[in-house]
Amino acid sequence: MLRGNKELWVAFLTMLLITAIYGVVVMYTREIPPASEVFGHGMGIVGFILMLMTETLYSLRKRSRSVRWGRMSFWLKFHIFTGLVGPYMVLLHSSWKFNGLAGATTLLTMIIVVSGFVGRYIFTRIPRTMDGLEIEGTLSQEALKQARRLLALWHAVHIPIGMALFVSAFVHIGAALYYATFLK
Ligand code: HEM
Ligand code: HEM
Repeated sequence: MLRGNKELWVAFLTMLLITAIYGVVVMYTREIPPASEVFGHGMGIVGFILMLMTETLYSLRKRSRSVRWGRMSFWLKFHIFTGLVGPYMVLLHSSWKFNGLAGATTLLTMIIVVSGFVGRYIFTRIPRTMDGLEIEGTLSQEALKQARRLLALWHAVHIPIGMALFVSAFVHIGAALYYATFLK
């Protein structure tokens, strides 16, 4: 069960802390951290690793039947935490320029985050056990069926967007490293 919204608060506070660090860097260097220099580059790399964790870890746990790896509800909360903090760091990496493919990758990242909130909302409508297994809850059968159908439809949109996002991110990373890092 996804109870409360603690993970949203923890993500929000982490983003606040990152914003403060970003602010200090801007104050000291008197410029927007460029995407290809130490701070901006670091933000892009760490943010992208968090996004890769978002894409893979929850799905892996979902497909493993073993409880040894922790509760599903924990992994979904972790998914949401890394799914917010990662994209935020990548946004700060962009140096507020959104040209070409890198700009399109940023747009896809924003879309998946917004879509995540929609999914989170639908997900909380379906009653589950503490381990995340669906139960026939107090909701009427018709409403439960509707929520399940909606979640399936949502998956069919959310997952391809995620894939397009990672394809375009890998092309951006390859091109950026080639032209902006190695050729320098
Ligand atoms: C989803 C993840 C990422 C997104 C959405 C993203 C987005 C962006 C954006 C919007 C820019 C600015 C482009 C411009 O100047 O118009 C940029 C620049 C850059 N990014 Fe990323 N980035 C991501 C991940 C990464 C990673 C992981 C690396 C390195 C391993 C990287 C390396 C670079 C470099 C080197 C530049 C500077 C390019 C230049 O100065 O011409 N990016 N990125
Ligand atoms: C980088 C950002 C994100 C990526 C790449 C991503 C990717 C994914 C993927 C691949 C799945 C399918 C998991 C599976 O069924 O195997 C998923 C499910 C889900 N995501 Fe995200 N997500 C991101 C951000 C978010 C955010 C910010 C939220 C909430 C605010 C969120 C909420 C959810 C929910 C509720 C599910 C459905 C869980 C289920 O049906 O079992 N995601 N996400």
